[in-house]
Amino acid sequence: MPSKKTGTAPTKTSSKPPATKGKGESKNYKMQFDIGTIKHLGLQMYSTLPPVIGELVSNAWDADASRVDITIPTGAITDDSEIIVKDDGDGMTDKDVRDAYLVVGRDRRKDKGDAPTKKGRRLQGRKGIGKFSAFGIAGEIEIETVKSRETSRFVMNYAKMEKNAPRREISMPPLSATGNVVKGTQVTLRQINKYRNRPINIQALRRGLARRFSIIGSSQGFNVFINGTHITPQERDLKRLLDVDTDGDQYLWEYDNVEIEPGTGWAVSGWIGALDRTNELEDGIQRGIVIFARGKMVQAPFVFDATVGQQYALSYLVGELHAEFVAKPLCTESAEV
Ligand SMILES: Nc1ncnc2c1ncn2[C@@H]1O[C@H](COP(=O)(O)OP(=O)(O)OP(=O)(O)O)[C@@H](O)[C@H]1O
Ligand SMILES: [Mg+2]
Repeated sequence: MPSKKTGTAPTKTSSKPPATKGKGESKNYKMQFDIGTIKHLGLQMYSTLPPVIGELVSNAWDADASRVDITIPTGAITDDSEIIVKDDGDGMTDKDVRDAYLVVGRDRRKDKGDAPTKKGRRLQGRKGIGKFSAFGIAGEIEIETVKSRETSRFVMNYAKMEKNAPRREISMPPLSATGNVVKGTQVTLRQINKYRNRPINIQALRRGLARRFSIIGSSQGFNVFINGTHITPQERDLKRLLDVDTDGDQYLWEYDNVEIEPGTGWAVSGWIGALDRTNELEDGIQRGIVIFARGKMVQAPFVFDATVGQQYALSYLVGELHAEFVAKPLCTESAEV
């Protein structure tokens, strides 16, 4: 569970005085929720850092951010540790927070349409639940966001949500601006209940994030930093690990817009390769093929229906396939992670 301190007083930061009273902005933020759904979406589906941070990075992409700064503690996690993900994207107004962010399960593509962003990006978000992934590792999520010179700041606390589960609604007081956010959105995770015994493996997190997004890298105008160090597209490149045959050629199969079922328009691009099976893989690199849609991983590394052991060779496959059709409504089921 994210916190043993069910129903206890808020943390020092969440007890700051509310913003100016009397205006619309000073009204408490309200969120209606079903605790079973939150448990399922956060606590059960996400238990490691790369996918959790990945959801926040994905939100930054959708908000047209050009820079995302992730701050990860370098020592073992303590009660006071914080993980921060800050983007310089569009941010949200008070109204955006209430009408979009706090509406669980809102399909933004249905609500606002699926047009590309101002920067021409295809939206990755669609289910209105990605933000809850952080409850998989943290008991508290603070949002501070700025748009049109308006700051909104509030804390979602899992223990409080559990306490309010029968009412199916939680009310969160608006907090005053810290002054640390001038543009975009900052998400701070507290009450981190993982990584208590050994420090977070930052190298593995870098690789995990690099592999989750084909849009990370300066050519896309989307730059992600961990503790100030840029994640480069090279960190996603696993082709360098491929085995070679006796002629020195890599075991590599490449696909350029290949229709997987004739007449369907379901086309994939990308590559699959075979690793040298005697090689130990570096930290954080998982074997298997990943599927991307709109630059985001929608299927974690897998080897189709092969069972490792039964079809031994398949466990040495690695690769990435881009399948835009899984983002279309017809195929939503296959896009589930
Ligand atoms: N960093 C951010 N900057 C600006 N707006 C954001 C940010 N994070 C979330 N939002 C807004 O809050 C909404 C809800 O975010 P959430 O991640 O829960 O769902 P989603 O991105 O729409 O879909 P998915 O469940 O696929 O992630 C987003 O659609 C967006 O409007
Ligand atoms: Mg999202």
